[in-house]
Amino acid sequence: MNVDQDIKNIVILTGAGVSAESGIDTFRSAGGLWEQHKVEDVATPEAFARDPDLVLRFYDMRRERIQQVEPNAAHYALARLDVAWAGNLLLVTQNVDDLHERAGAKRLLHMHGTHLTAWCIACDERHPWRGTLTDRPACPACGIAGQLRPDIVWFGEMPYRMDEIYHALNHADLFVSIGTSGAVYPAAGLVREARQKGIRTLELNLEPSHGTSSFAESRHGPATQVVPAWVDGILGG
Ligand code: OAD
Repeated sequence: MNVDQDIKNIVILTGAGVSAESGIDTFRSAGGLWEQHKVEDVATPEAFARDPDLVLRFYDMRRERIQQVEPNAAHYALARLDVAWAGNLLLVTQNVDDLHERAGAKRLLHMHGTHLTAWCIACDERHPWRGTLTDRPACPACGIAGQLRPDIVWFGEMPYRMDEIYHALNHADLFVSIGTSGAVYPAAGLVREARQKGIRTLELNLEPSHGTSSFAESRHGPATQVVPAWVDGILGG
């Protein structure tokens, strides 16, 4: 019997590992972003208040970088699954690039924000954004200059759309975690929530993550190999 035949509703969590082979640095690998920069210098509201130029420059460079890379086979495989899967599916990404949507994923939610919108802290509007913020442009809605910040969830801030994520998890039969180290909560806690609800859990990662023992099943290897193989399997099953 193929146990995949019992699966109707899927929640998939992705992290930096899914974009690594597109050429975007992960955070916690050797030489990764958090070895090159201190979190407390660039990724907290306090850092932004203390040295906005440094923070805006960091995110301007990252925003420019993601526009130079392309989705890889893992992004395309997940988009293929999204299109083909008849049951509920929610792709929850911690990534702030747009590679899932460029590959064609539709049922997608960015829990840590995105590089390609800017958030005006004066009027609370969000705007599509591809250029820089270091030069303190005016908000397209309220016209006030110097109030746009990266639409990124910094440490100490609440990730986006948690209600939708927990709702989807409550109705899921399978939770899959792809390319994430399991170091940052609440994302890292989703596997334990899933286990408590009796939902099947699967990790696809280059290597065992911090949370690997929480998963019922783990498959290790580069995302461009393990993700298409898993998608082929579940669509075939
Ligand atoms: P990490 O850098 O913490 O973890 C990336 C994971 O991907 C590691 O477990 C790697 O082993 C794995 N990995 C690397 N290359 C891979 C590949 N080619 N195929 C498959 N897996 C690979 O990144 P995240 O877990 O995404 O938050 O980090 C979570 C959050 O921490 C980020 O969203 C960011 C960061 O601080 C914010 O900025 C709010």
